[in-house]
Amino acid sequence: MAYEFTKEDLKEIEKLKTKYPEVTPVTLPALWIAQNRFGHVNPEVQKLVAKTLDLPEAHVHGVATFYTQYYKEEKGKHVLDVCTCLSCQLCGGYDILNYLEDKLGIKKGETTDDGMFTLNEVECLGACGYAPMLQVTNDKYVNHLTEEKVDNLIESLKNGEQPEYEKIGMPRRNNIK
Ligand code: FES
Repeated sequence: MAYEFTKEDLKEIEKLKTKYPEVTPVTLPALWIAQNRFGHVNPEVQKLVAKTLDLPEAHVHGVATFYTQYYKEEKGKHVLDVCTCLSCQLCGGYDILNYLEDKLGIKKGETTDDGMFTLNEVECLGACGYAPMLQVTNDKYVNHLTEEKVDNLIESLKNGEQPEYEKIGMPRRNNIK
């Protein structure tokens, strides 16, 4: 497959370039644009980003491989990152992971045959107070997971619906003593 940015992508990248004194910092948002466009930033996409920004391929590769949020290979339409770090583990993170493995018929790190879901086990996502939790494709968090919540999530995503994600309020500054 030949990877090409659309005119809109290129316009956005050009706009980003005007925000920085040099092009290097544009690598991160350009990789996001690429991932949103192609679903991943595999080595071919990394080359495209490097060519577009006129930067060394090694630089773009270094940035892309540093952050787990950039997918270096094709993933499912929805990527489920299940946290099994300490708080989540104590609150049943592995039960949730195992439940998802059984439900989707895949092991962690794998993608379902229909390309709908990739399941990952990840380290702390910074929502320990809402354990056990998972993240959907680098975006929404689903907290206080139960099997029922997992069922609803999978059903909604399969039907092309956005589940009702719970909003988490951060402590207000004037409540902190
Ligand atoms: S331990 Fe799961 S979010 Fe921190």
